[in-house]
This record gives sequence, structure tokens and C-alpha cells, in this order.
Amino acid sequence: MDRIIDEEKKIEDNYELSLRPKCLKEYIGQNDVKDNMKVFIEAAKLRDEVLDHTLLYGPPGLGKTTLAYIIANELSSNIKTTSGPAIEKTGDLAAVLSSLEPGDVLFIDEIHRMPKIVEEVLYSAMEDFSIDIIIGNEGSSRSIKIDLPPFTLVGATTRVGDLSSPLRDRFGIVSKLEYYSIEDLKIIIKRTAEVFEIEIEDEAAIELAKRSRGTPRIANRLFKRVRDFALVNGNGNIDLSITKESLDRLKVDSSGLDDTDHNLLKAIIYKFNGGPVGVDALAASIGEEVSTIEDVYEPYLLQNGFLKRTNRGRIVTDKAYAHLGIAHQEGLFDQM
Ligand SMILES: Nc1ncnc2c1ncn2[C@@H]1O[C@H](COP(=O)(O)OP(=O)(O)OP(=O)(O)O)[C@@H](O)[C@H]1O
Ligand SMILES: [Mg+2]
Repeated sequence: MDRIIDEEKKIEDNYELSLRPKCLKEYIGQNDVKDNMKVFIEAAKLRDEVLDHTLLYGPPGLGKTTLAYIIANELSSNIKTTSGPAIEKTGDLAAVLSSLEPGDVLFIDEIHRMPKIVEEVLYSAMEDFSIDIIIGNEGSSRSIKIDLPPFTLVGATTRVGDLSSPLRDRFGIVSKLEYYSIEDLKIIIKRTAEVFEIEIEDEAAIELAKRSRGTPRIANRLFKRVRDFALVNGNGNIDLSITKESLDRLKVDSSGLDDTDHNLLKAIIYKFNGGPVGVDALAASIGEEVSTIEDVYEPYLLQNGFLKRTNRGRIVTDKAYAHLGIAHQEGLFDQM
């Protein structure tokens, strides 16, 4: 079973890999981030210095990993990649750092999940390009200093709030990736269609874009499924009607909300009388992880005004009631 899942992931990764833009010019949208990065990269090159450490944050699938690779590529640097959870001990980090060559980009994904003691070693690596490592046992331990070549750390996280402020402050460049506009997603979908040599009508691309939660990864995944429906039930080309039909069958609604979004909103409405409700109670009531709600579902619902956060918890908005076709009355108890 595990193997099948692994295999599937690999295929999915290859699919994503083939669609991953390689340079800033191919990277659609995120214009503020892109324009600034262009300047910082250019300046670093002109000065013949390494680029300042860069932190990229934002919801999953918006292009953080993609941008990290692009940064390395634009700098003509090598990139070494690891992730917060993979670095368990200070020794793991020391090993990664001492393998760096001058000018390398070190990409640490999910950087908020790095253990605290490891994080502290990273501080001096980022600031002074050196680390102090304690060797030996208690009693006979001593600290040795290892000099590192100048490098650029690119960190990515979906949870910038979980980063300690000493770590956050050591990034010279901090960029937030935003949800993509329909127009930008349309361009991304058109590009994906081109890569796979499939025709997609403009209206179909717009429909897909509208239902992709502002997220390129979701746009590409949905594209893949619509492509299947078009092949089996249509003539292979993607038009508006096959797109609508496929997305309806995939239970992705006109605003890109799926079953989990619906369950979440309905749980607040029916079980918590519209809110406010704390995230723990909400997670328990729909059987999801708190982190999944906070990282994946909530940001989009908040951004699009279906949900509001108050200091007493989450509440469902009028827009959500209207979208779900549920009458909004005060004191609507126990419908479920
Ligand atoms: N600006 C963009 N232009 C075109 N395609 C993009 C862009 N950003 C992301 N993509 C597509 O979306 C996919 C997902 O992006 P990526 O893996 O970089 O997201 P991420 O932010 O690292 O997600 P996670 O938080 O889950 O690690 C990429 O493989 C790429 O095909
Ligand atoms: Mg990533």
C-alpha cells in the first residue's frame, strides 16, 4: 500500500516538475515579489556578493519551491535542498552546511518545523557564515568553530507565525506569496495546456481558473482531471461544457470550494450556530487536523470572505450563507 502511494506521489511530482517554470520570466503573477526579486538578484550579481537570505511564505501550492529554484537559477548558483523536519539534530544541519560551496543556495522547506536547538545553530550560520559545534561528552566537551562559505539561505513556510522572531529577523528579504488572480491562473492553465499539447478554450480556462482557489497547483491538478473527462467523454479538446461538467463531478463548486470547505462552513452554521468557534472544536467536529484547517482551508475562506476570524473564534459570513443557499436566522439551533 505504501508503495502505491509513493509511486503515485512520484508521478504527481514528475507532473509538477514538468510544469515548473524555470526562470522569472516564465513565473506568472506575483508581480511585486517578482519585480523586487529581480532587483535584489541583479544587485547581488553586480556587487559579486551572495543574495541576502530570503524567506518565502504563503499557503500551499502558490509557488514557493518553484521560486526558490528560480532564484538559484537566476543567480546561476547550485541549489541544495532540505526541509525543517529532515534536520533533527544540530549535526544534521552542520553536515548540510559544511557541504556548501561558495555562492550556493540552500533551500530549507517547511523551515518552521526545524527543532529549536537546530535553529540556534542556523542563526550564526546566517549571520556570520560560521557555526560553533559542541563536540565530546558532558564534562569533556569543547566547542569548535567551523567557517562556512558565503551562501544564500532560502526558507519556505506556510506558517510564518510559527517562526521565531530571531530566525525571521535574520532574513534580509521576506516575501509573501498571494493567491493568484483569475487572469494569472488562466495564463498558467493555458501554459499547462501548451506543455501537454491540448487545446483549451478561453472560457474553459477561465472557468477552471475560477474554481482553483487562487492556487496554481490546484489549477494544474484540476486541469489534469478535466483533460481525462475530455478524452473519454468528449473529443479530447477542453471546452466550457466539459470543464463545468467535470468540475461538478469532482465536487468543486463555482467558487472553488470542495466538500471539506462545505463541511467546515456547515459545521459552524449547524453545530456552532454560525460561530464564534475555536479551531480545535471545529477540527474535532469535522474530523480534520487543526493544521490542515489553518494552513489549507481557512486562508482561502478568510481571503474570500466566507469566514471571519474574531478574537472569540471563527464565524461564518452572510456571503457563506448565501453561497450555500442556507437561510440566515438568528438562533438556528441543532439542525444536524
Ligand atoms: N507563478 C507560477 N507560474 C506558473 N506555475 C506556477 C507558479 N507557481 C506555481 N506554479 C505551479 O504550481 C506548482 C506548485 O508550486 P510549488 O510546488 O512551488 O508550491 P509551494 O508554494 O512550494 O507549495 P507547498 O507549500 O505545498 O510546498 C508548481 O509545480 C508549478 O507547476
Ligand atoms: Mg513547496
